[in-house]
Amino acid sequence: MKYMLDSGNLADVKHCNEFYPLAGVTTNPTLVAKEKMEFWELVKEIRNIIGPDKMLHVQTVQTEAEKIVEEAKLLKYQVGGNFFVKIPISEEGLKAVMMLKEEDIGVTVTAIFTPAQALLAATAGADFVAPYVNRFDNVVGDGARVVEEIVQEFDRYGMNCQVLAASFKNVEQIHKCALSGCHAVTISADLFKNTLSHPMTDVAVAGFEKDWDSLYGDQTILDFEIK
Ligand code: E4P
Repeated sequence: MKYMLDSGNLADVKHCNEFYPLAGVTTNPTLVAKEKMEFWELVKEIRNIIGPDKMLHVQTVQTEAEKIVEEAKLLKYQVGGNFFVKIPISEEGLKAVMMLKEEDIGVTVTAIFTPAQALLAATAGADFVAPYVNRFDNVVGDGARVVEEIVQEFDRYGMNCQVLAASFKNVEQIHKCALSGCHAVTISADLFKNTLSHPMTDVAVAGFEKDWDSLYGDQTILDFEIK
């Protein structure tokens, strides 16, 4: 599983990059606008924090194929490293995906809500598709099921495209997507924390600490003389 951070917040990026097995960062125009920073300063600082090898997915704000390609080239040149342009699915978007394949620029087709959209995007040459799980759950039902069907379709057709499930609000949604074998998830900093937390873990650790303290007090293994 590739775990990506879905955020434009520099503190979140620094924290998750330090404490989690991060494969990269995804942003979108909403997340970027929330930070109220100069755009290039923000995306270049994210690259600076995660380094050149981890993926950085930045979304285009263009809607016409030629302009999307122009923006993607500029983004790749300025941001550098392991870069992917995110393109919302549309006719112009698909045309841009096919043009960008000629330019050797990685593409994530985003705002996916059906397996049919995903298969079309993958056939056009997308490296990733990003189905929106929670937004689907909010409206009609089972977003994780959509992810599962996309994974099955890609397997059946041997597509060279990975499923980057996105838009999560809870750990159960992430778990259900993982069961379907999706290749990657992009989640908020809060969801990283929620994924590793469990009240029974806290109880277990408190028990270990209490039992250790009862014999050794404040001493740790590092304090013991080696014999
Ligand atoms: C990822 O590509 C999307 O930008 C993101 O996950 C959407 O998440 P939201 O539904 O929480 O806004």
